[in-house]
Formats: sequence, structure tokens, C-alpha cells
Amino acid sequence: MSDSVFLQEITDFTEALAREAGELIRHEREENTLRTDYKHQTELVTHADVMADEFITGTIRERFPHHRILSEETMPDLSQAEELETPLWIVDPIDGTVNYAYGHPQVAVSIAYAEKGNVRAGVVHAPFAGETFRATEGCGATLNGLPVRHSGATNPRQSLFATGFPYTKDNLEPLVQRLNAMIHQCRDLRRIGSAALDICWVACGRLDIYYENVSPWDFAAARLIAKEAGATVGHFGEVPEGYPADLYGRDILISAPAIWEAVRAILRTASNYD
Ligand code: IPD
Ligand code: CA
Ligand code: CA
Ligand code: CA
Repeated sequence: MSDSVFLQEITDFTEALAREAGELIRHEREENTLRTDYKHQTELVTHADVMADEFITGTIRERFPHHRILSEETMPDLSQAEELETPLWIVDPIDGTVNYAYGHPQVAVSIAYAEKGNVRAGVVHAPFAGETFRATEGCGATLNGLPVRHSGATNPRQSLFATGFPYTKDNLEPLVQRLNAMIHQCRDLRRIGSAALDICWVACGRLDIYYENVSPWDFAAARLIAKEAGATVGHFGEVPEGYPADLYGRDILISAPAIWEAVRAILRTASNYD
């Protein structure tokens, strides 16, 4: 089987899996029997996060028993991502758990497939919106089967910016300084509550800029979707030697290409930042 046929099959499998998991979490919320717990401080987890995680990782393991899996709720061991020779799946069963628990619609299932640390296929499915973003490396990005493209924004001042805040509230001051600068120098700010959807919304032009410090399961699939939609993707801070940015780049900045450098300069000037 050629590499491109294999990748299309992987993407089809990923989309089917994300849609099934989406049905599961939709059903669990509609049944109105959500059980929530605290992971730490303010971070919620519901029984549906764990159910969807077990369903997705179990299905991947059945189909690809030799692949590795990095998944927020049941396999969050980042050392999984360090052994680059075996394919790796990166899973966020519910991105936007707080939205999910409060009955908001901005919720996504995010599943990415990586080889040698490079994400080659990704799906972000938003079950309450009926929207599925999908990308295969080198083949562009789609929303419900139709190609998507970044906004083409050319001026930060006329750009809509999205971000998020960490659950851990220690040392928020540098972030507050950066956001203060962005509020003054961009059109407006959105805090949607799902990093994967924020990034996909940059991919399809509903947002111009996204910046946040997030984990690989939050961004892996959406990052490829944004790249394939022509957006510029980059990270702050050093990614250690031998650790691919697709998985280890933390502070992530994604935007329409013409404004990326200018936005990076705003963020860097606001607080000491490499
Ligand atoms: C969170 C969401 C949120 C972002 C947080 C993430 P979760 O993921 O993506 O938008 O601001 O940093 O942790 O916990 O809902 O999967
Ligand atoms: Ca997440
Ligand atoms: Ca999650
Ligand atoms: Ca979480």
C-alpha cells in the first residue's frame, strides 16, 4: 500500500473514531447524569472524559496493537512521545471539559496520528456543532468535507485574537502582561474554552490569531489542520534537541501568515520571552 493511501485510511479511521466518541459524549450529556470530579485546583474531569478516553484508546489499541498512545485522561505519560520510531496517537477525548460540564457547545474530540514525532493526520470533531475538521499531511484541511483557509489578515489591529488560561493559577503575571498588550493592539479577544477549536477556527478564518501554553493533546491534531490551511504555526521557548515541535512546542502562536511576526513581537515585548 502506498504511503498516501495508507495516510488517507488512517485519516478515515481517525474521523470515524472521533465521530463515534462525539456521539458518546453527546449522549452522556443529554442523559443528564454527568458526574464531575476535580483533578486539581480548578481542573474538572467528568465521567464522560474517562469513558471517551477509554473508548478511543481501546479502539486504537485493537486496530494498531503495536502503536503507542498519549491520551489526556488514561495515558498522559509524555515519555510515550520520546520514543520516535513507533507511530504515536495523541488523543484529547474532550477538549473543553469546562464547557462540556456547563452545557456549552464549544467542545471537541481531538485525535492525531504521528510518525517520527511529526503529526501526519488529525481530526477535531465538535459534536454539538456538527462540525468536523480534518487534515492529512500535504493534502490541505477541510471542514465537513469542504476546504478551509486562514483569514488572510494583514494587520494585528484588525485581528481577532483567541487565547486561554491555565488551570493552575500560579505566576499568571507574565501572561497577564502579554494579554494586556494584545488587547491594546488587536481588535478584540475571545476565550472559547477549547484549544483545539480555537486553532481550527484560525484555520478556517473565524479567528485571526491564537496563542496559549497548552499540552500536546490540546493542539496536535489542530496544529496540522492550521498548517494545512496555510496558517503560520510557531512556538516560543526552546524545544529540547531531538524533541519535535509537533509534540513538544509549548507556548504556541498560530495566525494568518502576514501578521505572525508582528504578533510575536507584541507578545515578546510585553514580557521577557524568547
Ligand atoms: C483545556 C481547553 C482550554 C485551554 C486549557 C486546556 P481540557 O483542555 O483546551 O481551552 O485553555 O489550557 O487545558 O482540559 O478541556 O481538555
Ligand atoms: Ca484539552
Ligand atoms: Ca480534555
Ligand atoms: Ca483537562
